[in-house]
Amino acid sequence: MSIRSHSLRWLVIYLLSSSVLAAAPDGVVAVSHPAAAAAGARMLTQGGNAIDAAAAVQFALNVVEPQSSGIGGGGFMLIHLAKTGKTVIVDSREQAPAAATADMFAPEGLAMPFPLASTRGLAVGVPGTLRGVDTALRRWGTMKLAATMAPAIELAERGFRVNRFMAEDIAHDGGRTQLQPETAATFRPGGVPLAEGDWLVQRDLAKTLKLIAARGPDAFYRGPIAHAIVKAQQRTRNEIGATGQGRMTLSDLAHYQVVIRQPLIGHYRGWTLAGMPPPSSGGLTTIQILKLLERFPLGDAAQGYGFGSPKTIHVMIEAMRLAFADRAVWIGDAAAVPMPQTGLLHPGYLATRSALINPDSRMVTPQAGTPPPWDTSLAARPHASRTHLESPHTTHFSIVDRWGNMVSYTSTIENTWGSGITVPGYGFLLNNELTDFNLTPTADAAKGNPGANDVAPAKRPRSSMAPTLLMKNGKPVAAFGSPGGATIINSVLNVTLNLIDHGMTLQQAIDAPRLSVTHATGPVSCESGARFSVAAQNALRNQGHIGLGEAGTDGCRQSIGSVQAVAMETAPETHNGAADLRREGTVIRVKPAIALPDRRL
Ligand code: GLY
Repeated sequence: MSIRSHSLRWLVIYLLSSSVLAAAPDGVVAVSHPAAAAAGARMLTQGGNAIDAAAAVQFALNVVEPQSSGIGGGGFMLIHLAKTGKTVIVDSREQAPAAATADMFAPEGLAMPFPLASTRGLAVGVPGTLRGVDTALRRWGTMKLAATMAPAIELAERGFRVNRFMAEDIAHDGGRTQLQPETAATFRPGGVPLAEGDWLVQRDLAKTLKLIAARGPDAFYRGPIAHAIVKAQQRTRNEIGATGQGRMTLSDLAHYQVVIRQPLIGHYRGWTLAGMPPPSSGGLTTIQILKLLERFPLGDAAQGYGFGSPKTIHVMIEAMRLAFADRAVWIGDAAAVPMPQTGLLHPGYLATRSALINPDSRMVTPQAGTPPPWDTSLAARPHASRTHLESPHTTHFSIVDRWGNMVSYTSTIENTWGSGITVPGYGFLLNNELTDFNLTPTADAAKGNPGANDVAPAKRPRSSMAPTLLMKNGKPVAAFGSPGGATIINSVLNVTLNLIDHGMTLQQAIDAPRLSVTHATGPVSCESGARFSVAAQNALRNQGHIGLGEAGTDGCRQSIGSVQAVAMETAPETHNGAADLRREGTVIRVKPAIALPDRRL
């Protein structure tokens, strides 16, 4: 399979060209916003590597896509180092404060409704993004933090045009840009929601970024910004009084820890995936679904499979239902609760789970399986648990530099607009990541329930973020990922199947309509497109699949994820990118004009 991009769908910009360096492959950035893509490209043009470019993109996204990610949130950065061939994960997931308790979202035994819980200081996790980016830069970057922040500072200070996606997110904000005066003042000046084409200047945010550029991350984690964050999340609203008050202290901020992790490795039809380990379920659940599907010839139309056939869609749905049943019970922060990770990926366990998939009929609601016997380190029994729905949000970008170092980075403030709380005087939004925990505690020793994703002090909430590296014969081929809450896993899965089973190019794999199921009970979400036909949907309805609406209608109406990807081809050595037009996806190619030292890492 050759992973090529579809040139018509690219915004391809050669920033500089040089015949001297014609043999060197270009650096490529693929980002959901053109101004943030340009920030990354600027670092590559100046001789920076993929990690420098990633830092610049992340800071710029904080300005131009503030509803999705920023220094008030967290994320997972996958870095592939060309020289050593190693892949590492920078985990900057938010942490619960030391004063967090398992029942804090259910003080009387009843979970607070999500819209309420997620817009209160109580939902704000200790942010990790700035420490994560700074850690990555110090260990693998070549530029100073301040240099990577320069494009973001310019964008915040001089302003930029609000794009269609931000305008829609303001218009359909679920009230989140209206709850707090500082957020409303920025995105609804004078009570009028910003519209597409309006000019947005963020002076407070510019001030904050300059302060961090001058004084380093300690200005945020120990200095004046820390004081302002603590105060902002302690503000309560009358209807839930003190129960909604945030519990983060200055000590929680000062002690925030980035963790460098090894990726989770999985194999599928001779390809290798490097993905996110816990506390994200992104890698584990994606790999589980792939392994459950591996015995089906998904690409073979002659056997009734092939892209968009009812048979392919049916087995995908069933595999998703099984894996999400396991996810709901077993996956959480492995540092806080023992997790049967080996069991969940054990070939024997997966064979018993895959055997539950009948290609011709729909299974009754599957329960979580019993991986611990396959995991010699653990002994427990299965049990049921519930998770709340996760909404689409978050952002993903991918970068490859001319030396072949790659970054695949997903970051978030959780819900679109996070908690809706802007830190007064500092102009950035705080996350609501703690509502990614179980809102009611599930731990039950008698039933063998470990409470894998229950709230606990300093614990990281389970994520779905899944920045992924696809490899063949030990060499990286493509890096990609997506936003979208729990649907992230399925966007990454869809793209992987499109590349491997359906032989699509990278751009085709991104463009193709997607399918997602994120719960064992199985409501199906899917995107419109000729290849998920009404006839195929009727066949699925007849099998008992739910969520597709009335027979004879097109029930595939969602938009799922936003995958930004880069790819490397070895012969000849070229780097490509592919962008997702579900947001303002942009690919920029960069050919530096100056001879540069070898920066393979
Ligand atoms: N808050 C989205 C995620 O972590 O998956």
